[in-house]
Amino acid sequence: MKKLFKKPIFFYTVIIFILLSVSGLVLSRVVGNYFILIAVLLTVYIILLILLIHFYDTYIKPLHKATITVDEIVKGNYRARFHHPKDDSVGNLSNKINDLGRSLGKLAMQEQMHSDQLSTIIDNLESGLVLVDAKGYIHFVNRKFIMMFGNTPKAYKGYLYYEVLDSEIIHETVKNTFLYERNVKDSFSHYRGLDRIYIEVVGAPIFNERNMLKGAVIMLYDITEMKKLELMRKDFVANVSHELKTPITSIKGFAETMLDDPANGSEPNQEFLKIIYKESDRIQFLVEDLLILSRLEKENFRLLKTVTDVNNVTDEVKPIVQQKAKEKQIAFHIEIDGAIQLYADKEQLKQVMINLLDNAINYTAEDGRIDLRVNETEEYVSIEVEDTGIGIEHEAIPRIFERFYRVDQARSRNTGGTGLGLAIVKHVVELHEGKIDIISAPNKGTTMKVLLPKNL
Ligand SMILES: Nc1ncnc2c1ncn2[C@@H]1O[C@H](COP(=O)(O)OP(=O)(O)O)[C@@H](O)[C@H]1O
Ligand SMILES: [Mg+2]
Repeated sequence: MKKLFKKPIFFYTVIIFILLSVSGLVLSRVVGNYFILIAVLLTVYIILLILLIHFYDTYIKPLHKATITVDEIVKGNYRARFHHPKDDSVGNLSNKINDLGRSLGKLAMQEQMHSDQLSTIIDNLESGLVLVDAKGYIHFVNRKFIMMFGNTPKAYKGYLYYEVLDSEIIHETVKNTFLYERNVKDSFSHYRGLDRIYIEVVGAPIFNERNMLKGAVIMLYDITEMKKLELMRKDFVANVSHELKTPITSIKGFAETMLDDPANGSEPNQEFLKIIYKESDRIQFLVEDLLILSRLEKENFRLLKTVTDVNNVTDEVKPIVQQKAKEKQIAFHIEIDGAIQLYADKEQLKQVMINLLDNAINYTAEDGRIDLRVNETEEYVSIEVEDTGIGIEHEAIPRIFERFYRVDQARSRNTGGTGLGLAIVKHVVELHEGKIDIISAPNKGTTMKVLLPKNL
């Protein structure tokens, strides 16, 4: 009954009936003729009722149907349609609603197609992909990621990245991507069964249209093949250098002995032996530098860090450099700002200084000047080697740390350098998390400044 009262047509009928009955009662007292009065009121009632039903059928009912159809469309049922046979305003409305449903259906289909295409691409990527929101929850992992790390997508989706991803490096990458709001790159190795796989991880931040951080995409590249080749190359270089070490030492040794033998005192033997001795000396330096580089590049290489007094290092370096500088009549000055200490690998630090000073001497003409300056700030120690030498062209500066790169091939070879000095310097500085600055201009001289964190 309650439900029936909710129907508008029923509600209005009852209201009209009550109104007419009340007015009938009032009028009957005035008119006196009950029969005519009831007949009139009944006719009025029936006419009103017919009008009401007509109004309900023509407007209210179709509008109700239209509302239901729109509701369905809002819910995502784009196939919902509303048919109204007449060509009136409601018919017009029904056409519009049906058009809307059709257009939305088309749009939804296109959207679905795009998203299907996108997920097919993402799923078939050759690299793993993880989507993390700004709170750190994982929203998506692709198929390659599952192949790399196992489990099912359900084991990752909806969880915090640091709870379900094992690698500390991935955690750091995501953290730094959020922190610095820029691309962050790192690499790590991980075991899949017995196989060790190498992975490069790149975190890229995602921003919304107001430039606010929305999350991050984490890409994981399988670089195992590349890493294996690189390891093979490094091993090869290390092995060859190692194998060459003994024969070159004996060639040099024998050349030296033969040079001392008076039986070989005559020309051209003496000349040839001198060349053999000099060249084997060069090969020996090269082999030594290659071995130093190989050792620095080893994955398990660890610096032997101790609290190091820079004065102790310069004391050891000084006699070696002074001798060479004197031969070329180059003035060599050392300036150290008190007792400077830092937490570093002393032997490697010595190597850095020797290599920089060696270059300063090699690339400075006679009567030049070299300055070694050591200063400190609260966090850093700065080691500066300045010369008055030939300088380096601006374009060549970024390349001089490459192995065997020389600005002037012939000239550098004649200096006796191996072409590896600065590559070693760069490695050592990077292992100490320091940096190198170069100020240089052709014919004006060069200043190489190494900044190392004190870490005390
Ligand atoms: N102080 C310097 N002045 C001018 N050129 C330099 C200096 N230091 C390095 N270079 C340039 O950088 C190149 C690479 O240096 P390095 O790696 O030490 O190799 P090498 O000295 O054996 O050639 C040198 O060949 C030279 O061209
Ligand atoms: Mg050098």
